[in-house]
Amino acid sequence: MRVAVIGGTGDFGLALARRLAEAGDHVIVGSRDAERARAKAAEAGAADGRTNADAVGGVDIVVLAVNAEAALPTAAELSGAIGETPVLSVASELRFTKSGVHPTRDVRSIAERTQELLRAPVAAGLHSLAAASLAGGKAEGDALVCADDAHVKDLALELAAKVVTGRALDAGPLSSARALEGMTAVIVNLNRRYKGHAGIRVTGL
Ligand SMILES: NC(=O)c1ccc[n+]([C@@H]2O[C@H](COP(=O)([O-])OP(=O)(O)OC[C@H]3O[C@@H](n4cnc5c(N)ncnc54)[C@H](OP(=O)(O)O)[C@@H]3O)[C@@H](O)[C@H]2O)c1
Repeated sequence: MRVAVIGGTGDFGLALARRLAEAGDHVIVGSRDAERARAKAAEAGAADGRTNADAVGGVDIVVLAVNAEAALPTAAELSGAIGETPVLSVASELRFTKSGVHPTRDVRSIAERTQELLRAPVAAGLHSLAAASLAGGKAEGDALVCADDAHVKDLALELAAKVVTGRALDAGPLSSARALEGMTAVIVNLNRRYKGHAGIRVTGL
């Protein structure tokens, strides 16, 4: 699979790029800075590093893994370059307060709002995979993926299955991204309380 990881220079994107390259995928690391992209691509064992706009050309799937606040502006900026190439959104908006970590106030997920900006079909997933866990090897547990479009969902499930010890599971339509993104706040609260890197394992299936 040919994969562009936009924001592949960050904690999560770099760990994902490393795991996918290890699994044999042709991975392009994207960054706003081509030099940084090339350096991080070499670190991850990826095929190449390019500017975000150059990274999305000729790939099977684009993983939008920039800092969550930058996800929507970046999707809008890359809309033309991405065209109809399937996109996987991994972003979760979090609000940090004294009482704990909260999900965004916006009812709609970042993934649904990303879909409104792109012609490409959007999937959402991998939210429960901590960068710190992924950095050391496959992340413990299952990965949940959702999408309205069957093709992007299949690609995202195939990608997810390569980076977890458990299963890649179909969590339904793109609106499920509201729950998946919200779950990140739950996981961060668990990590803070129990000092760990929580993952998710679904039982009963
Ligand atoms: N960290 C986790 O454990 C984790 C787990 C699951 C999902 N996620 C999601 O994965 C995504 C990345 O998380 P992260 O922790 O790796 O984030 P991060 O390290 O803060 O940022 C990732 C990359 O985003 C780019 N970036 C930062 N500000 C930007 C801006 N204003 N415009 C465009 N690009 C910008 C930077 O790349 P350049 O400067 O090279 O362009 C940076 O290396 C987030 O959406 C997060 O919600 C994270």
